Amino acid sequence: MATEKSAVFIIFGGSGDLAHRKLYPALYNLYKTGDLKEHFAVIGTARRPWSDDYYRGTVVDSLKDIDDDEKAMEEFSKHFFYQSHDVTDSDHYIALKKLASKLDDQFQTGHNRVYYMAIAPRFFGTVAEHINSEGLKTDGFNRLVIEKPFGRSFDSACELNSSLTKTFSESEIYRMDHYLGKFMVQQLTRIRLKNRTFEKSLNNKYVSNVQVTLAESLGVEDRGGYYETAGVLRDMVQNHIMQIIGAVAMDEPAKLDSESIHEVKRDVFASLKDLKPEEVDKNFVRGQYGEDDTGSLKAYRDEDNVDPKSNIETFVAGKMMLDNDRWSGVPFYVRSGKRMPAKSSRIDIVYNDAVKELGINPNTTVTFLIEPENGSSILVNGVDYQEGNQDFLKFPEDPKYFSQEREAYENLMIDILDGNKIHFTLWDELQNAWKYVDVIRQQWDNETPDFPNYMSNTMGPDAASELLEKDGNSWIWDD
Ligand code: BG6
Repeated sequence: MATEKSAVFIIFGGSGDLAHRKLYPALYNLYKTGDLKEHFAVIGTARRPWSDDYYRGTVVDSLKDIDDDEKAMEEFSKHFFYQSHDVTDSDHYIALKKLASKLDDQFQTGHNRVYYMAIAPRFFGTVAEHINSEGLKTDGFNRLVIEKPFGRSFDSACELNSSLTKTFSESEIYRMDHYLGKFMVQQLTRIRLKNRTFEKSLNNKYVSNVQVTLAESLGVEDRGGYYETAGVLRDMVQNHIMQIIGAVAMDEPAKLDSESIHEVKRDVFASLKDLKPEEVDKNFVRGQYGEDDTGSLKAYRDEDNVDPKSNIETFVAGKMMLDNDRWSGVPFYVRSGKRMPAKSSRIDIVYNDAVKELGINPNTTVTFLIEPENGSSILVNGVDYQEGNQDFLKFPEDPKYFSQEREAYENLMIDILDGNKIHFTLWDELQNAWKYVDVIRQQWDNETPDFPNYMSNTMGPDAASELLEKDGNSWIWDD
């Protein structure tokens, strides 16, 4: 049974794509499950001069693909209000404050506020500062949700963080990484704790290497402008891949609560083995997609809002090491790319021979499929763990945790309302992730790559395979 939660959500960027694609459907699904009922309201803000009615119409439109219950959608949309807003205009925050207080009373929300930044990152600091100066914070909870990218480098992330922490404490800041909302990523810790032999096997005595692949078949679509400032290194490695490594490599937490989990995760990030600039080329490979072999898919350089001479990478493969007792000597191979042959987000844990002393077959590979199979499967040597009757590996049986129906944004939205920070990125984790990625970025920015260097619909440049071959290893997912 869902417990009803109460809050006024202020969504900065309420007319935008993220709000309509992810946030409104997530809130609606929570409304259907009863997590949100009577005591909530949503204020969408953006520059456009929309009316409440028009805004509600756009909200309902965003739900058409997920439901046809018109009555429920109509009722749901009555909780939505629109405020035209210029993020730099103090008067607009005063109007926003009045509206939010009115809705607090009308919907009895307990003065709880979720401030959701679904706007361009350059405005994050300005909005947070105005929330402070115009006194929007209340005596209920005040939670600030920040979408990625959180900075573009260690320095810019520090700048952003200090502008936010003038208004919000670390405990009030929820940095989104939607991979942490995905079913299988969330399950990983539970699976580890539930299966003692598996947990015992996760270290350098038994693991030959770990592989994290986040492959996409799509290109940059209509996000060329953003992607030109990011590249896959900032877009996927600094956040999603790092967080997955954190979940695989962390020590056993004392408890399943946010504090204990972040404590062990923090240690993983702190033990990332420094990469020196001169080691970058040996350990990281970059690529950019060209056309496919039929010429029907565009090269990255021909995409909209992309520089025809762009040196931005759409593919990365790398080898990361951890300098701690548990993992030293075990390569963590990571890979992410656009326009690969299929969408596949997965973690492969490759064992060595010694693992037989734990009763696991030598050279076994355990694969966690995060997507697209909706995170339902663990494979042992490519076969579903159930079929292979693998008694060292089972899902936790608690059906509550077995439910895969929730989409990442719904899971994370519930966590925000519950004040649960397990699945959000903390500041010290982020700092170490940026420090690591900055070295690669700076080195790459000093060199001119020979792009494009892989065709669309392929596994990326050959150098990505050679990276593992040098160590006597190979990618497990090889289409
Ligand atoms: C986002 C990136 O964070 O993750 C996108 O900005 C990428 O470039 C997306 O396509 C992939 O997420 P998912 O959930 O589709 O694997």
